[in-house]
Amino acid sequence: MDRIAITGVPGTGKTTVSALLNKDVMNLSDLYEKSADGREEDGTWIIDTEKMATIVANESEDNDMIEGHLSHLLGISKTAIVLRCHPTELKKRLKKRKYNDEKIQENLEAECLGIITNECLEEEIETWEVDTTDTTPEKTAKEIEEIIQGSKIYTIPNIDYSNCIMDLY
Ligand SMILES: Nc1ncnc2c1ncn2[C@@H]1O[C@H](COP(=O)(O)OP(=O)(O)OP(=O)(O)O)[C@@H](O)[C@H]1O
Ligand SMILES: [Mg+2]
Repeated sequence: MDRIAITGVPGTGKTTVSALLNKDVMNLSDLYEKSADGREEDGTWIIDTEKMATIVANESEDNDMIEGHLSHLLGISKTAIVLRCHPTELKKRLKKRKYNDEKIQENLEAECLGIITNECLEEEIETWEVDTTDTTPEKTAKEIEEIIQGSKIYTIPNIDYSNCIMDLY
């Protein structure tokens, strides 16, 4: 297996679920400082994905999984697992963090529009979606294990939260 990317909008559960997998998982947030060209005014790292990809390739094994919302953009995975979450639930999860309203709105818009899934499809990598809305991290981890082991039947990404977009304004 190549380095499978676990991706998704912030708050969908990448880090929580990764910790439950029976696999070595590289967390991209640990590499932000090393792979950034400085920070934006609001403190967000300006990531150079090529730099990040080189570090990941050097510091992980083929079999490891890569977790983070940029993992599908590094050009080193043939498979991406996109964690999805209904915007109403995602809003609750993001409100628990110190995110400002603008950042919450930005992430909810991204989830409504399925931006990460679309980016994966544009990268032409095998793209799976796993909905984390009404389930537990343990069940989500089990679903991911089934994908990794090849025991889950593939379905084309079809989670569509676009009808929630008007609720954001
Ligand atoms: N099925 C589920 N899978 C994963 N997390 C879930 C699930 N249900 C509820 N949660 C909760 O959602 C939150 C997800 O937060 P987490 O930090 O894992 O997200 P993340 O995708 O890693 O975000 P970020 O991109 O900011 O790192 C946690 O509080 C977790 O307990
Ligand atoms: Mg995380």
